[in-house]
Amino acid sequence: MLVLKNETLINRNDAVIDIEDRGYQFGDGVYEVIRYYDGEWFLLDDHLERLQYSLDEAEIDYNVQEEKLKARLHDLMEQNQVQDGGVYLQVTRGFAPRNHPYPEHQQPTLIAYPLNLKRPTHDQTHGIHTITAEDFRWLRCDIKSLNLLGNVMTKQKAIDTGASEAIFYRDESHVTEGSSTNVFIVKNGELITHPADHYILNGITRRHLLYLAERLDIPYRIEVFGLDALKNADEVFVSSTSAEIKPVISVDDQIISNGEPGPITNTLLKNYFDHLSVTKLP
Ligand code: PDD
Repeated sequence: MLVLKNETLINRNDAVIDIEDRGYQFGDGVYEVIRYYDGEWFLLDDHLERLQYSLDEAEIDYNVQEEKLKARLHDLMEQNQVQDGGVYLQVTRGFAPRNHPYPEHQQPTLIAYPLNLKRPTHDQTHGIHTITAEDFRWLRCDIKSLNLLGNVMTKQKAIDTGASEAIFYRDESHVTEGSSTNVFIVKNGELITHPADHYILNGITRRHLLYLAERLDIPYRIEVFGLDALKNADEVFVSSTSAEIKPVISVDDQIISNGEPGPITNTLLKNYFDHLSVTKLP
């Protein structure tokens, strides 16, 4: 496999990262996962824009030159003969002798390589089981940071109990997001999802779905909801680049939507690839 390291495509085995790369030692970096369907990028501009947001918020001295990076990502997919899948892209603050403060001259490291992502059609047809878990992560979840220890520990907790996603809450009245997804509920025909603030990652898929909802005349509210609302919702679903939309059919021991994907969830899924004439989401 060829990988993109900074500006060059090289063999995976030659893509050496220094042991004092700050991404490796401090989780000092940010990342994106971007889909590639049938030879075309999906919402690429929005992902690159969010990458720059994360870099700026993390004060990593790196300027995403969109056109150049797009050309390199294009080569990456073409030379690896990828037709369907995605890309993992991360930028760290780079190598420096281990010390907490930022190095005086940052030399960020960019790595990108293809991911073998498949459409999750089984979960989309049957729905998934979820648990709830206390959100003990930091308070800058809007940065797509490499620091995912809280996320992976909580995802594992879900797996260990036979579920496939964990839904975080700060307290009973405040559900935030999933361990690797955003969360939506449907009540009386209306979609509800958490505001885009520092408690959640503003998912590109979340934004795409709100845009679709508008086009499909599905009313929505951007509002904090609690565990009661989650467990008594008519429908629940999670969204992410890799999950797209996955219907939730149970939360802890509570069955949702009679254990089947609900109608609004299915409508959004059916129209997932529609209305994509925009180059950037509103
Ligand atoms: N995860 N919230 C969290 C905590 C996430 O990790 C993700 C994505 C999302 C959804 O964001 P988007 O729709 O932009 O993918 C929300 C990625 C896919 C991952 O870590 O693999």
